[in-house]
Amino acid sequence: MTEAVVTKPKIGEYRRHILVCTGERCTSDGSSQALFDSLGDKFKAAGLTSGPLRVKRTRASCFAACKGGPIVCVQPDGTWYYNVTPDNMDRIIEQHLCGGRPVDELVFHQAQAPGDSGREGGA
Ligand code: FES
Repeated sequence: MTEAVVTKPKIGEYRRHILVCTGERCTSDGSSQALFDSLGDKFKAAGLTSGPLRVKRTRASCFAACKGGPIVCVQPDGTWYYNVTPDNMDRIIEQHLCGGRPVDELVFHQAQAPGDSGREGGA
């Protein structure tokens, strides 16, 4: 019996990865898909399609959050945004993806960084 040869995939270098939920429980009017479709042009205009701040983008079908869409997740920062309207996406691009600072009022969940145990047991 011969083993199948599996081709090792490759992806380009990137700084951050944005995941957009296009599931119907987030938005039923197509605004999540429209948001995803807009990212190519928005990222190009912001200089995020190449270079040290390059952002990879991917659609997802459900994150089990399912309200307040469009919902996006920015990795590896572990930052989850809701109500990502076109204007709010512009803010996220400028402040977070280009500037490195999350847009706090649009965040509904922030994952802890590895090794960050918060203030428990601290002074
Ligand atoms: S449909 Fe978007 S999180 Fe479930």
